[in-house]
Amino acid sequence: MRMYDIIMKKRNGEELTKEEIRFFVEGYTNGEIPDYQVSALMMAIYFQKMTEKETYELTMAMAESGDRLDLSAIHGIKVDKHSTGGVGDKTSLALTPMVAACGIPVAKMSGRGLGHTGGTIDKLESFPGFTTALTTEQFIENVNKIGIAIMGQTADLAPADKKLYALRDVTATVDNMSLIASSIMSKKLAAGADAIVLDVKTGSGAFMKKEEDARALAEEMVKIGKNAGRKTIAVISDMDQPLGFAVGNALEVKEAIETLNGKGPEDFVELCMTLGSRMLIAGGKANTPEEAEEMLKNVIQDGSALKKLAEFVEAQGGDESFVYHPERLPETSSRRELLSDKEGYISRIVCDEVGICSLILGGGRETKESKIDLSVGIVLQKKVGDYVKKGDILAVIHANNEDKAEEAACRLLKAYSITDTKPEKLPFIKAIIQ
Ligand code: URA
Repeated sequence: MRMYDIIMKKRNGEELTKEEIRFFVEGYTNGEIPDYQVSALMMAIYFQKMTEKETYELTMAMAESGDRLDLSAIHGIKVDKHSTGGVGDKTSLALTPMVAACGIPVAKMSGRGLGHTGGTIDKLESFPGFTTALTTEQFIENVNKIGIAIMGQTADLAPADKKLYALRDVTATVDNMSLIASSIMSKKLAAGADAIVLDVKTGSGAFMKKEEDARALAEEMVKIGKNAGRKTIAVISDMDQPLGFAVGNALEVKEAIETLNGKGPEDFVELCMTLGSRMLIAGGKANTPEEAEEMLKNVIQDGSALKKLAEFVEAQGGDESFVYHPERLPETSSRRELLSDKEGYISRIVCDEVGICSLILGGGRETKESKIDLSVGIVLQKKVGDYVKKGDILAVIHANNEDKAEEAACRLLKAYSITDTKPEKLPFIKAIIQ
């Protein structure tokens, strides 16, 4: 078999066989097939797409490209959760301790930032000393002891995805349905959870901008999960404006802590309740969404979800005192207010632009080697539907560099649309697919 023929076949719009897919996944993982040939194939897939069968075979080949975690030593039904990526998406930071406090063992594999979107691991590293570099034994021990552990993708777990993820990030081939579905599901299958709850984002800050594409992605992933014998549920949620108010690593950690203190933003709380209730039902702790939501509200009210976050941070080497004193988290040297230059209703905030502004400030990586600034970012003061007067504060920019703050401010102001008429309020949760 030759890689050249596989590229040509896909370029011409033909369906690849299981053997051809396994050939390139294995060859790329073990270093026999170079980046440039796989880049060409990724671009051919981007334009020609993959059939359902090809997507399934690609997922399984990637899931089997390394070790699979055996989580049978963890007691109870293990539930995993994964987002397709968004702006201000700090969901795992608040949701996993909430669910763990309700008695669901959370054994989760998370990632770093991708494109204009942030990553859970980067955010968690705002706690000094925190690490996701756990051995499988530590990972299992932590879940059994405190009910929650998060690890990064190791070289041994779905290594094909690790390589392809980095390659797609720099070759403009992220936003393809089959490539996203196989990337996420290969990791989830290799990581061994019994049930998987997916948060599929749609809107200008998501990789799937159109709702119909998000729905197709959700259906595809649910089908892959079921075929692989895992209970899989997908929630389609809005990402047409940032989630909550905070965008940026430490700023998002602070907002997640506020949420666990019962003071979370409305959209973010709704998302945590929707995803959390499906996780509790999948894990056999509740029978209905209402019953599950009551349990989730209780663990916020009685402080046990916040305590769970502190235990989790400490178990992974972090300083848990920051959970109770979030003002100690990294802060910038300056804050700049972005003022409205018009009066009217905010009708739109171009969401990926807000993510890009955070990257400009230093909150994301420009190259694989870049070091990120955990303190920078944006805290929105107004969101879609709010009425503003000229001179009202739209957002606060947290920066450590004046030139970058200036560039982000100009770009962020352009991301806001202000009109005379109030925009229609659209549902935040678009659909639940199971
Ligand atoms: N998240 C992933 O893990 N992979 C993608 O391709 C996109 C989002």
